[in-house]
Amino acid sequence: MLMHVFTVWLGGAYRVVISSYANFHKALIENNKITSKRSDVGLPGWRKEIFAVRPGIARHILWKDAKKARQQTATFLNNEGMGRTVMEPHVLNEADKFIQFFIEPRLESGEGLDTITPLSLAATNILVNTLTGNSYDYDDPKAHDHLNLIHEEHKHNVTFAASIPFTKWIPGDPFHSAEAERNYSETFKKILSNFDNIVAKRRRELQDGCSPNLMLDHMLLQYRPELGDQERFDANVGSMIQQMYAGSTASGSYLCWALLYLSVYPHMQERLHNEIDEVIGEDSVPEYSLREKLPYADAFVLETFRHSECIHVLSPRTTESELVIDGQVLPAGVELMFNLDSVYNDPDIFDNVHEFNPERFLTGDVTKKKACIEAAFGLGRRKCIAIPLGKMEVFLILLRIMQQFSVTYEGDTKPPLINMGGINSKPYPHRIVFTRRNKEIRK
Ligand code: HEM
Repeated sequence: MLMHVFTVWLGGAYRVVISSYANFHKALIENNKITSKRSDVGLPGWRKEIFAVRPGIARHILWKDAKKARQQTATFLNNEGMGRTVMEPHVLNEADKFIQFFIEPRLESGEGLDTITPLSLAATNILVNTLTGNSYDYDDPKAHDHLNLIHEEHKHNVTFAASIPFTKWIPGDPFHSAEAERNYSETFKKILSNFDNIVAKRRRELQDGCSPNLMLDHMLLQYRPELGDQERFDANVGSMIQQMYAGSTASGSYLCWALLYLSVYPHMQERLHNEIDEVIGEDSVPEYSLREKLPYADAFVLETFRHSECIHVLSPRTTESELVIDGQVLPAGVELMFNLDSVYNDPDIFDNVHEFNPERFLTGDVTKKKACIEAAFGLGRRKCIAIPLGKMEVFLILLRIMQQFSVTYEGDTKPPLINMGGINSKPYPHRIVFTRRNKEIRK
C-alpha cells in the first residue's frame, strides 16, 4: 500500500511529506488557515537573517504579514489586466521579439539554440515591461547574468546543503554542501542587490519629480512613515519583485520543455501544426480566447506540465496548529513538504504515467486530471499570484512560434526527457533547430 503521509528526519528536523491530490486539497484548501505559513525549518542562519529583515511577498514567513503584500501585488497585476486582454499584446509582442532576435538569424545556418535562458528572458520581459515600462535587450549581458543567477538559486534550493545541512560539516565536503551553501549565499545576495538597485534608482527618479506611471511607482508610493523606515520598505518591494521575476522564469522553463517534446515527437508536432493551420491560419495572430478551439494544443501544454515535472515540490509550509490528515495527527510547528510528483504520477488518475501522451487530456473524464495540473501553481492561500498570466504566456508564445516554424533537436542523439533537478527544473542541455514552415506544403 502506498504511504501518502509520512515523516522523514531530514536536515536536523522532522518534515512531513504529503502526497496525492486528495491530501493536497485537504491540507491546502480545506485547512488553509493552518497551512498558509511559509516554513523556515532548516534554513541556513544567513538566509533567516535576510528573510527577517526583508520579508517581501513570499519571504513573509507568517501569513498575516504576507497577506497584505500579496493582496497589493495581486491587485496591481489584476489592474494591469493580467491574463486578459491588456496583457495579451505584451505577450505576443515579446514572442515576436524572441523570434526576430533568436530564431530568424539562425534559420540560414541551421544553428541550434539553447532555449532555456532566452525563453526565460522573454517571460521576464513581459513582467519587467508591466513593472517598469522598460524591457531587457536580448543581448544585454546583465539580463543574462541576472537570469543565470535565478537559475542558480533554484538549483541550490535542492542541494544537500539546503535539505541536509549537517553534510556541510563532513570533512572534505564530499557532497559539496559547504561549497553549495557558499555559492548560494553569494548568488542570493547578488540577486537581491540587483533588485535593490532597480528600486533605488526609481525612488530617486520619483523624488526628483518624475511623474508616476509604472506599476513599480504604485508600489513605491504605498510608503507611509507609519510603515517603518523607507529603506526597509523599499527592500521589501525589491524582494517582492524578485519573487515575481523568479516566478516568471517558470513560464520560460515550461516553454523550453514544450519545444523539446515537439522536437522528439514529430507526429505530435504535425498534429499541432495542423490544428494551428485550421484554427488560426498563417496570417492571423493567435488569441488566448481560441483555446477551446485548439484542444490538441491545450492538451499538449497540460501534458508538458505533467510529464516534465518541472515544478515538483511546492514551497514548504509550517503548520500553525494541529492538522489531521489521512488519519494522522500532525502537531503545530511541523514542516510540510508537498510532493507534486505524486500528483502528476497518480496511477488512480493517470495511465502509463511515464509515457508522454497529450491524448490523455482529450479522452474520458478530464476534470480530475486538469485539477491535478492546476496544482503546478500551488493551492490555497499561497498559490501563485499570476496563474492566468503564466498560463497565457506558455500557450501563446508556443503557438506563435509553432505557427511559423518546425523544430528538431540538434545532432543525432535524442535528448533525454529527464529533468536536471532543482526548483523549476530544466531539461538536460540540448539545442533546438528551427526551420521556417513551407507555405506551399501548408496549402
Ligand atoms: C507557468 C508559470 C508559473 C508557474 C507554474 C508558477 C508556479 C508557482 C508555484 C508552484 C508557486 C508556489 C505555490 C505554493 O507554494 O503553493 C508560485 C508562487 C508565486 N508565483 Fe508563480 N508560477 C508561474 C508564473 C508566475 C509569474 C509569471 C509570476 C509573476 C508575477 C509569478 C509570481 C509568483 C509569486 C509572487 C509567488 C509567491 C506567492 C506567495 O508567496 O504568496 N508566478 N508560483
